[in-house]
Amino acid sequence: MNSPWMIETKQLTKMLGGKPVVDRVDMLIQKGEIYGFLGPNGAGKTTTIRMLLGLARPSSGHIRLLGKDIRRERLDILRKVGSLVEYPSYYGHLSGYENLEAVRRLLDIPKSRIDEVLAIVRLTKDAKRPVKGYSLGMKQRLGIATALLGSPELLILDEPTNGLDPAGILEIRELIKSLPRSQGVTILISSHLLSEVDQMATRVGIISSGRMIFQDSIARLRKQAKSGIRMRVSEPEQAMRLLHGHGFQAAVESELLAFDDLPDAQIGAMVARLSEHGHLIYRIEESAASLERIFLDMTGTEGSL
Ligand SMILES: Nc1ncnc2c1ncn2[C@@H]1O[C@H](COP(=O)(O)OP(=O)(O)OP(=O)(O)O)[C@@H](O)[C@H]1O
Ligand SMILES: [Mg+2]
Repeated sequence: MNSPWMIETKQLTKMLGGKPVVDRVDMLIQKGEIYGFLGPNGAGKTTTIRMLLGLARPSSGHIRLLGKDIRRERLDILRKVGSLVEYPSYYGHLSGYENLEAVRRLLDIPKSRIDEVLAIVRLTKDAKRPVKGYSLGMKQRLGIATALLGSPELLILDEPTNGLDPAGILEIRELIKSLPRSQGVTILISSHLLSEVDQMATRVGIISSGRMIFQDSIARLRKQAKSGIRMRVSEPEQAMRLLHGHGFQAAVESELLAFDDLPDAQIGAMVARLSEHGHLIYRIEESAASLERIFLDMTGTEGSL
């Protein structure tokens, strides 16, 4: 039977130091998608990824990659998976090309593939320079080139933009975005910043303290955002007291009257009350929480990022 899932974990758990650092995670990643695996520092992203790649053994639970149980056909499956986990190591005195050549020989694939992957990550021009002279962004691109050498069906990238400047982040983002179409790969990319995967991921999984607390499209995530109403009025404090007297929930935030989202009829009623009592209403706005706000609220990591 053909499974539609490139990655499927069931109740995946890793105990470290007596506590679960990955806790009953059900992860589902569909073919062709870019899946953003998000969580604050220490949430369990790398531990999960290490288990997916067979670098760490799950304490319990199951993993299927490319529709197959990794306990059974591990080598066969992992051959079709490319990865970049944390900072890759290179031979600094060797060129980018020579570093790729070293890996190519291990994988036993045609030499022409080196030029192909260099072109994909746009390193052709710098391929003959020693890697120790590469910028961090170039090193990360070389890491992605290495991961692509074996023409993988699945690419797993653990925080590939960590430590890069905004231009470097943009470059990696554009590169990753282009890969599903140009190379036919499915991609799992982890990050501790929602804003970073926002523009490329089709779906996101959010992990917090080892638990998967959200897994769906970014559009759905946005819908979960608590939207609210903000009203600029002439006398916010008095207006708030008046509304409280009429049974409305209202607060004053930065000189504005603030409400949770309300049906139109209730807003109409509030406006009527306020006008009756001589309050001037200058503007009414809907405020949607930013994605980053939602993420911080969900993971409770305010201040630690
Ligand atoms: N050998 C160990 N013994 C006990 N706890 C460990 C061990 N290794 C890792 N941990 C804990 O496991 C948790 C998850 O770590 P992990 O590296 O998977 O998080 P992460 O989401 O990748 O974080 P980051 O964004 O910092 O890379 C952390 O709280 C870490 O302290
Ligand atoms: Mg990590």
